[in-house]
Amino acid sequence: MIKAFVFDAYGTLYDVQSVEAVTDAAFPGHGAYITQVWRLKQLEYSWLRSLMGRYEDFWTVTRESLAYTLGTLGLTPDERLFEDVAEAYNHLTPYPDAEAALGALSGYRRAILSNGSPDMLAALVSNSRLGRHLEATISVDGHRVFKPDARAYELVEERLGVRPDEVVFVSSNGFDVAGAKSFGFRVARIERVAPAALTRELAADGVIGPATLFKSLRMQTERLGYEPDITVGSLSELAVLAEHL
Ligand code: LAC
Repeated sequence: MIKAFVFDAYGTLYDVQSVEAVTDAAFPGHGAYITQVWRLKQLEYSWLRSLMGRYEDFWTVTRESLAYTLGTLGLTPDERLFEDVAEAYNHLTPYPDAEAALGALSGYRRAILSNGSPDMLAALVSNSRLGRHLEATISVDGHRVFKPDARAYELVEERLGVRPDEVVFVSSNGFDVAGAKSFGFRVARIERVAPAALTRELAADGVIGPATLFKSLRMQTERLGYEPDITVGSLSELAVLAEHL
């Protein structure tokens, strides 16, 4: 029996692409590139730090990956500007369907499990209206290892007291879908970019831009052998499908 819906934060409830308003205002003309490379590197650094056994929290990872990204452009902002841009990750816009979808699942326990640090998640939730629908905001920081390491997913049972097979884990991030399924959760994948739409975008573009590359690398189902139980186009479809899981 399903008892809880547990959500990934970045890219699933909150739109990481919304930092582009900040990156482009800070570095005009480079916003799209910075937004995509920053997010690609942020995830890569979380995996590298986990593999290296050199955990630092996601705020450090977010700042290090921003420094890397700006470095590729030869940009050396002063500390104030750098911190202001990094702060964009604490003010992400929730997806338009997020609040209503969480509300429609009020018959279940609802929480976030995210790579974000406790402070980052507290800021995200308090800067949006989603907190009222969430019983817990669980950070992987409790086990000092990032998703998709199984120890990160174990925090759900530890904090909520629900077994993995009683949890529907919801994510739009391919690596997170595979990791959660491998761990033993039931998994709902939010497909924000349909494969056919991506194929068309790749065919139409003369030069493949950073946003298209990001969709190819991070927003498709991974071929790792751990498929989601259901795939839906938006968060609002979850409540209807919940009874079939
Ligand atoms: C998270 C990132 C990985 O919220 O999307 O955990």
